Amino acid sequence: MPLVSATKMINDAHAGHYAICAFNINNLEWTKSILEACEKAKAPVILEVSEGANKYMCGFKTVANMVKNIVEFLGVTIPVALHLDHGTYEGAKAAIEAGYTSVMFDGSHYPFEENLEKSKEIIALAHSKGISVECEVGGIGGSEDGVTSAGEKADPEECRTIANLGVDFLAAGIGNIHGIYPADWQGLDLQRLAEIQEATNGKPLVLHGGTGIPYEMVRSAIERGVSKVNINTDLQLAFAKGEREYFEAGKDQDLKGKGFDPRKLLKPGCEAIKAKVEELLKAFGSYGKAA
Ligand code: 13P
Repeated sequence: MPLVSATKMINDAHAGHYAICAFNINNLEWTKSILEACEKAKAPVILEVSEGANKYMCGFKTVANMVKNIVEFLGVTIPVALHLDHGTYEGAKAAIEAGYTSVMFDGSHYPFEENLEKSKEIIALAHSKGISVECEVGGIGGSEDGVTSAGEKADPEECRTIANLGVDFLAAGIGNIHGIYPADWQGLDLQRLAEIQEATNGKPLVLHGGTGIPYEMVRSAIERGVSKVNINTDLQLAFAKGEREYFEAGKDQDLKGKGFDPRKLLKPGCEAIKAKVEELLKAFGSYGKAA
């Protein structure tokens, strides 16, 4: 199945009161593990790539071709969208050019008028090619790919203005943070989320920083219009734990069994990713939705 825009799967999720998981990918193993787990679960999925991960994987074209070819090779039947995460203005254009089927333009650090202008331009360009667009209002706290933000809750009126541009789904800061949440975290501002959902007339909303929020709280956010949950750190933690256990058990030193073979070496991390993906698909409701 060719890669698809994320619009339909997100709209279906919004109408059905569940959320699509958007998993960040880092390499071939990440991509393959997530796709295998989602295919098994019959769950539509978004594979997303930050600009840093894109550079690490040798550019937009390499990533787009890799993902397309893996989907084809594995005979994946579920809808899969390839999405640029926190794209710059130039990055969004390059991703569109290279074959991504969805892009986020993150203009949240610009003055609002500039965010608006640039968002409008990216939306027109992407939509002319059938590509879905996510924009951002307010800031997501924490650190991702070396970009750190204190986080700023989104203004519902600004959200309304961006939603009216025809953006497909909107990321709005509601106290969420990339990476691991501090012990004294105050939780999501569900009241603000409900206000944003009302102001945007039911635009599907995106919850960044999906790692470490209690599942019940995420489900409350889904009831208030969140239809895409971004998850990055969770799969990194799962992979690291799987690998740590392998090394600590000395399995890489099993010379007879060739425990040092990279395909064996990376397997426990990949299996841990698959288990975590299955758990998250069930928790946020997309499990079985592409059956
Ligand atoms: P986490 O790393 O906290 O899961 O956040 C992922 C994210 O929001 C990607 O944009």
